Amino acid sequence: MKFFLDTADVDAIRKANELRMVDGITTNPTLIMKSGKNHREVIGEISKIIKGPISVEGVGLTFDEMVSEAENFVDWIPNAVIKVPMTKEGLRTASHLESRGIPVNVTLVFSPSQALLAAKTGASYVSPFVGRLDDIGQNGMKVVDDIVRIFSNYKFKTEVIVASVRSVSHVVEAAKIGAHIATIPPKIYEEMWNHELTDKGIKKFLDDYKKSKA
Ligand code: G3P
Repeated sequence: MKFFLDTADVDAIRKANELRMVDGITTNPTLIMKSGKNHREVIGEISKIIKGPISVEGVGLTFDEMVSEAENFVDWIPNAVIKVPMTKEGLRTASHLESRGIPVNVTLVFSPSQALLAAKTGASYVSPFVGRLDDIGQNGMKVVDDIVRIFSNYKFKTEVIVASVRSVSHVVEAAKIGAHIATIPPKIYEEMWNHELTDKGIKKFLDDYKKSKA
């Protein structure tokens, strides 16, 4: 399973990547806004740290706008993946960019039928938003499970990025289902490392070592 970080916080990316476990990054306009920097600056900084795919999202809604934004992004960094929304214009853009060798991440996917349509464009990635589905009382992980099964039935090359991750158990459930990627907020990534019994165990071993004979 690949781990992406869902953030535009460069310090958090640097820290999380100390053990080289970060396979890619996903950003969106909200995350870029939170970074307090402009798009080009922050994406450039991230690209210097992470060599894997970096999803970047513009604000255009028409084919022409999205293609023009994508051309800027690939000009700025070599590892850009273009996020397009799950709309007819977005999928038209996805087919076009993929045919030019520019990878696309179809975002704001909330159902298996949307994911199926996105995969048929040849998009490199689809991003179902589990947390936002849970927020409205639906089962986000069930949608991921359906999408992974459908893609496997037809051997689509499209990879599933489980997005809108809100807890460690979302990551674990995604892994159990066999989703290719989870894009994880840095705070959740840090939580994945912890267990109180690990801390307790280390303390006990150290205490016992001190008590043992030299
Ligand atoms: O990057 C897209 C997605 O992960 C957003 O998550 O928490 O805003 O629903 P959230």
